[in-house]
Amino acid sequence: MFPTHRPRRLRKHAQLRNMVRETVLNKSDLIYPLFAVPGEGIANEVKSMPGVYQLSTDKIVEEAREIYDLGIPSIILFGIPENKDFDATGAWHDCGIVQKTATAIKEAVPELLIIADTCLCEYTSHGHCGYLDVNDLTGRVLNDPTLELLKKTAVSQAKAGVDIIAPSGMMDGFVQAIRTALDEEGFQDLPILSYAAKYASAYYGPFRDAADSIPQFGDRRTYQMDPANSREAIKEIELDIAEGADILMVKPALSYMDIIWQVKEASYLPVAAYSVSGEYSMFKAAALNGWIDEQKVVLETLTGFKRAGADLILTYHAKDAARWLS
Ligand code: PBG
Ligand code: ZN
Repeated sequence: MFPTHRPRRLRKHAQLRNMVRETVLNKSDLIYPLFAVPGEGIANEVKSMPGVYQLSTDKIVEEAREIYDLGIPSIILFGIPENKDFDATGAWHDCGIVQKTATAIKEAVPELLIIADTCLCEYTSHGHCGYLDVNDLTGRVLNDPTLELLKKTAVSQAKAGVDIIAPSGMMDGFVQAIRTALDEEGFQDLPILSYAAKYASAYYGPFRDAADSIPQFGDRRTYQMDPANSREAIKEIELDIAEGADILMVKPALSYMDIIWQVKEASYLPVAAYSVSGEYSMFKAAALNGWIDEQKVVLETLTGFKRAGADLILTYHAKDAARWLS
């Protein structure tokens, strides 16, 4: 009898397909990014990201309730400060925008887990993720002085009540530095979600509009990873594990599915994938033109991230996806 093997047998009935499905996307896998701005009653749509807004505290609190009610367990907070300066004061000040917003959300929706993105680029006048050598106009980011500012940032975010710290600046020794600082301040139990393999990607373009964090000169290739490298990702991951990371992130997601898979294989830690702004904008643009079925394409892509090994997915489509999964 030909053929001996007929894989189609298991595809014949919807029920049977459900039974043998290997990967299931859950609302509880999703993390929704939010942009906090000073002021009141503000909801500025980001031009390059239809459906994504910069929100003032009052609006973010409303949004947080909606997100929690949709069944999404967690948000990641980014801040756009009133003023930017050389020392990134807005990042580590106790009255910083992320600190104030986090406290307000915690008060209103205590069950919603708040992740704080820990970096300086939204807060520096030059838009780089670290402290610069004042006398070097090429914009060389100084690693260890940057860590001092990041330690203060992480501790102030912890004091404001965030649940998870997410170091995203790709500085050497970042995880170890903030782990030590957090422990010294009594935050031994606060998990670190490390942006362990973060690539110097053109897909961050729309985010930099949203967060107002375009570098004024140069680029981020002296700290973020070369998109051509995968062995280097494993090196970064091993360092972050040794330094005390609790969750490892790969970013971006779509063009780096092989990295998600390798990170999953290389450790026993949970893996997060960040489907970044440019990925969202591409899907949205095509969907708004009627060229793709947004729901089907996005759910297929999110399922792909999970199949590749992601346990958690950061996506600007989280609210849509939660609705579609209901
Ligand atoms: C800051 C940071 C960036 C993103 C998250 N945290 C951008 C960057 O390196 O410019 C990108 C997120 C996105 O594109 O959605 N270090
Ligand atoms: Zn940064």
